[in-house]
Amino acid sequence: MIIFGHRGARGHAPENTLPSIELALEQGADWIEIDAQMADGECWVLHDATLDRTTNGTGAVTDAKQSTLEQLDAGNGANIPTLAQVMDCVAGRAGLNIELKGAGTAGFVAAAIANRVQTADPDWSDFIVSSFHHGWLQAVRTLEPNIPVGALYLGVPVDLAASAEALGAVAVHLGLDFLDPAMIDDAHARGLAVYVYTVNSEDDLLRMAQLGVDGVFTDFPDRAFALRPGND
Ligand code: G3P
Ligand code: MG
Repeated sequence: MIIFGHRGARGHAPENTLPSIELALEQGADWIEIDAQMADGECWVLHDATLDRTTNGTGAVTDAKQSTLEQLDAGNGANIPTLAQVMDCVAGRAGLNIELKGAGTAGFVAAAIANRVQTADPDWSDFIVSSFHHGWLQAVRTLEPNIPVGALYLGVPVDLAASAEALGAVAVHLGLDFLDPAMIDDAHARGLAVYVYTVNSEDDLLRMAQLGVDGVFTDFPDRAFALRPGND
């Protein structure tokens, strides 16, 4: 199974920071998953719409100025990284899954990926853009059809993975709490990969392997790596 370091190695280091991402890479993550928000014309790597939980700032991210965001502490003295900083860190070492969390991210992220692919080493397949907001994914597909997209689901749609296929997605990203073998089978029958979030316990990691999913998002990349065949 492919290992996505969820917000880096969130179980070991402050989420969505460069140290967390560095640690996930050291622990064997194949991909890094991050969350993207827009503020003051820049794309920031942050999960919440507000600053309060993960930084020493307060209020809505979208109300903050770049000069403020640059100086906030996102944990253990690390800053909130920009998307460009994370791309620099991950390039050539792992794939990068950018989850669109905030309005305005689709256009910025699509342009940023296209720019990387055209000016640096990465390939389109080094990126996946995902979101619970499928309209934003559609916008990414329209802006740059080469960018692979993953359709995030919180539950199980009545038409299973049909909407992901219609979107031209390469994968469905499914929540562990609503995991249904029918959804997994349907996605596979449509040629879509199945990635499950957020899988942290050894029992659940082993169960995902038995269910035949293609990858897991985990806060503990080291645990998933240790359970890989050949790593015992
Ligand atoms: O992308 C998988 C997972 O990160 C989606 O949920 O809330 O952790 O961003 P969340
Ligand atoms: Mg996420």
